[in-house]
Amino acid sequence: MAPIAIDTPIRLPPKIVGPTTKTATRPTKQLPRWLIDGAKIEQQESFDPKKHIYYEPPRRIYTMKEINLDGHGISPNAVSEPFPLFTTEAVRQMRAEIFSPGVLAHCQYTSTFSQNMIRGMGAARAPFTYDAWNSAEVLAKVSEVAGVDLVPALDVEIATINISVHTDTGDRRPTEDQVEDEISSTAWHYDSFPFVCVTMISDCQGMIGGETMLRMPTGEMMKVRGPAMGTAVVMQGRYIEHQGLTALGGRERISMVTAFRPKSPFIKDESILTGVRGISMLSDLYHQYTQYRLEILEERIRARLKQERQRELANRPFDTPDVRNWLIAQKEFIDAMLEELSE
Ligand SMILES: [Fe+2]
Repeated sequence: MAPIAIDTPIRLPPKIVGPTTKTATRPTKQLPRWLIDGAKIEQQESFDPKKHIYYEPPRRIYTMKEINLDGHGISPNAVSEPFPLFTTEAVRQMRAEIFSPGVLAHCQYTSTFSQNMIRGMGAARAPFTYDAWNSAEVLAKVSEVAGVDLVPALDVEIATINISVHTDTGDRRPTEDQVEDEISSTAWHYDSFPFVCVTMISDCQGMIGGETMLRMPTGEMMKVRGPAMGTAVVMQGRYIEHQGLTALGGRERISMVTAFRPKSPFIKDESILTGVRGISMLSDLYHQYTQYRLEILEERIRARLKQERQRELANRPFDTPDVRNWLIAQKEFIDAMLEELSE
């Protein structure tokens, strides 16, 4: 086994402000009938990587260095340009699951950050979406763009669907002033998990805006193009301050956000629950979080124990500072869990 290097965070990750919504709340604004009816399909399919992935690498990936965040986070890559990830048929299958009766009855949330969300559909209610985000092929593509091997952060993070619809039938073409003003659709924030993949599952014809604005430590801004239907953007959102800009024009804007954490238990995991506590069933959220964090700890302890046994067999001297540093890192890992598992 390769030597174990557990990153001790040198820099503290950004503090995060979550929505003021503290417990799971159902939206009062109902989704329009045309949206639900329009998502119906004749035949549900199983996810097939050969048929449902259409991937092309992004034309450009901005690095953390380029946005003055060198050394922060878990990868040198910061954010990608939009790139194709799913076929139109895959998006149709996902939309059919999102607007199915079971999902609409159990998975709708609202918060001060987003008025209409669908979250945590799970494997039973949305097998296609669940299998897509867990497929080795999709994970390989997302990881390639991220520059580090990733897995979905939690089951309930597959996925969050942000829905905004224009219910009137009037002319939705933006005025020039509106485009100039670039109204923000979300407040400035950091995400709760290291990486996100934002997939656009709306037809963006006639849409203007909808980009992501990044704020660098120097205060400088950078605008990244919003994804078009079936395309995705991968971003290290836990470490980059960002906001979504409102999209104008078009009847609906529906994006699917999937959160990721590092696959390796030996890479630091600074995931927190601040941003998702108010839009989750707490018992599911805490169970999934506790389970994977304990699995990480289990892997780290196994590896450390093996290393210690081998040291003794090889007759090398006991390295007190090294063992102490390892223990401190694990103590901080547990302290971080105590911080998250609040009543
Ligand atoms: Fe975000």
